[in-house]
Amino acid sequence: MDLLYTPAEMRAWRRAHDGHSAGFAPTMGYLHEGHLTLARRAREENDLAVVSIFVNPTQFAPGEDFEKYPRDEERDLQLLRDAGVDAVYFPTPAVMYPPGYQTYVTVEEVTQPLEGSARPGHFRGVTTVVLKLFNAVEPDRAYFGRKDAQQLRVLRRMALDLDLGLEIVPCDIVREPDGLAMSSRNVYLSPQQRAAAPVVRRALLAAKARYDAGERDPAAIRAAAIDLIRAEPLAELEYVSLADDDSLEELAGPVARPALISTVVRFGHTRLLDNIELGLP
Ligand code: PAF
Repeated sequence: MDLLYTPAEMRAWRRAHDGHSAGFAPTMGYLHEGHLTLARRAREENDLAVVSIFVNPTQFAPGEDFEKYPRDEERDLQLLRDAGVDAVYFPTPAVMYPPGYQTYVTVEEVTQPLEGSARPGHFRGVTTVVLKLFNAVEPDRAYFGRKDAQQLRVLRRMALDLDLGLEIVPCDIVREPDGLAMSSRNVYLSPQQRAAAPVVRRALLAAKARYDAGERDPAAIRAAAIDLIRAEPLAELEYVSLADDDSLEELAGPVARPALISTVVRFGHTRLLDNIELGLP
């Protein structure tokens, strides 16, 4: 497995493998089974598999967890070797954002609601870094988890709007046996919070059950999730959204097209995201 540290090294590696398709999984490291699923799919569906590890400062607001974001580079590299990854792109913040840096990518409407409103500037950081990573890696396919549902839609929009000519491949959420969606941030949970956290998944399943039983009123579907979350004393609800699956515009009238029900629930300072798609074939 090759390690590349700068855009020039990454591009030279890619040139040396000209004519081979490349699958790419961008990550912020501290890898778990969800990331490894992306890496394995990149491995299976392409000639070459590339993974990046970069904790991207521009997608964290001041006061968020950039400094304390969990890191374990040795373990990450071993896991990627075991997954058969060909190259790891490992830039530093100084390489990605040298003095004088001033260029950012903004996707407009789909970044506004939900996480865009809870974390102003977050998606500008994500789109900027992902485009820079794409420019260095030049992938044919890029793999992203469905857990970050809005990120996936934002990046799909960016790839389309900027004619990137690559495929954005969504990958299913990987869960712990009790249903909690895997996330590097789960490590922040205390044992009591960790025991309570599966309520997030149960709440979304309750909402889906109401939809599957024929309910089409968005408020009634959301209420099924809200009631369960409010009943958990350690959980603090940020939002439950029922939105158009593509634009993420909140649904006002009856659910009549594919929709995404998504939530953020806080346990102490840790924000847990999860979602379920409704009405997709
Ligand atoms: O999903 C993530 O881990 C990050 O947002 C990404 C896509 C690697 C960009 O920093």
